[in-house]
Amino acid sequence: MAFTAVELIETKRDGGTLSDDAIAWLIAGYTDGRIPDYQMSAMTMAVLVNGLDESELSAWTSEMLDSGELLDFSDIAAPKVDKHSTGGVGDKISIPLAPLVAACGVVVPMISGRGLGHTGGTLDKLESIPGFTTELDPGRFRSVVTDHGLVLAGQSETMVPADRKLYALRDATGTVPSIPLISSSIMSKKLAEGLDGLLLDVKTGSGAQMKTLDRSRELARTMVGIGKSYGVRTVALITSMDQPLGNEVGNANEIRESIDVLEGNGPDDVTELTLAFGEVMLELAGIEGGKDRLEEAIESGAALQKFIDVTVAQGGDPSVIEDTSLLPMASEEAVVEAPRSGVVTKCDALTIGLASTHLGAGRESMEDQIDLGVGITILAKLGDRVKEGQVLARVAYSDEARWEAQRKFLASAWAIGYTDPETAPLILERIE
Ligand code: URA
Repeated sequence: MAFTAVELIETKRDGGTLSDDAIAWLIAGYTDGRIPDYQMSAMTMAVLVNGLDESELSAWTSEMLDSGELLDFSDIAAPKVDKHSTGGVGDKISIPLAPLVAACGVVVPMISGRGLGHTGGTLDKLESIPGFTTELDPGRFRSVVTDHGLVLAGQSETMVPADRKLYALRDATGTVPSIPLISSSIMSKKLAEGLDGLLLDVKTGSGAQMKTLDRSRELARTMVGIGKSYGVRTVALITSMDQPLGNEVGNANEIRESIDVLEGNGPDDVTELTLAFGEVMLELAGIEGGKDRLEEAIESGAALQKFIDVTVAQGGDPSVIEDTSLLPMASEEAVVEAPRSGVVTKCDALTIGLASTHLGAGRESMEDQIDLGVGITILAKLGDRVKEGQVLARVAYSDEARWEAQRKFLASAWAIGYTDPETAPLILERIE
């Protein structure tokens, strides 16, 4: 069937429905370069405004998935389960979680992303371990999974190339926050991993992509629907992202805190979420024992050993796991102090995430180099009582001018009041 891009853009612009054939032509044409960026950006804007119905979303996701090669682990008998987070501030959960569940017998072929905007990325954090490579060719990817039941890597060139192009285009054209486009982007990449089960962590709140519970719910339901239609057991947990997770924000900082969790000394919120996610992943894998089994893997050291093993397999230096003071650390230190005594009523995830990015821990554009040793250690969170002059956060930075530019902004993340704030539970809803 012959289509023109203009005709399809006009159909979507005017609220019409695209046929399966039209969507197949569009995604294939954009991936191979026949459809230029300017036409696809008009199309994604039309989708952002008018949405995709169920059959359009199904065709869109399936064409994205078919644009590249699929991983096939059917020769590995153990259940394959992954977890994806829509991204938050201080969200290092994947790093302790993946080795923990792998130590309990689940195979975790985890494919993660880099940080962009105010949220950090698992790949950048892992690269603060000297030598750790997240760019694995398909042969090495497979051998790490086969040998260790775990791999922590980035998306290869051949996996879902349609999303690689489309996500970069959306990022540059203000068309990221569309539920059908986010859902098809995330789920096409996850479905390409050949999984039996998938846990989706859909963040909600100031530091999340979805700022309201309603939007987070809609995103969770849409992604769960796609997963199930492919026969993958899929559960979404909606989790709170109003304040950062844990006490550490920044790449090496978050590796340090992840190791604390694996050693049984992590902060309460990160430990609670890691165990809760672990329980769901074991359930999706059909492995009994739940929380007891996970706690035993931490207590026995098996989870930490799994992280050391995968670090060595991916070229990383394990001595920084044994002695985390060897991880990168920026040379300068400053503090944020409480302007008055009282109770912390705000510890804003978005402000802290943005300040951390602008200090160099994140990227403002894909080409930026990040500073792995830059980070913020948070010492006062929602509901904590503080005295005037008490340190709310310690900041490790390298560039004086950047710190001067962020000093006041970072301090604005905290508000000190007189009445205890309402705090949301970490896990708000389960959708399946
Ligand atoms: N993460 C993705 O992989 N895709 C999106 O569209 C948004 C977040």
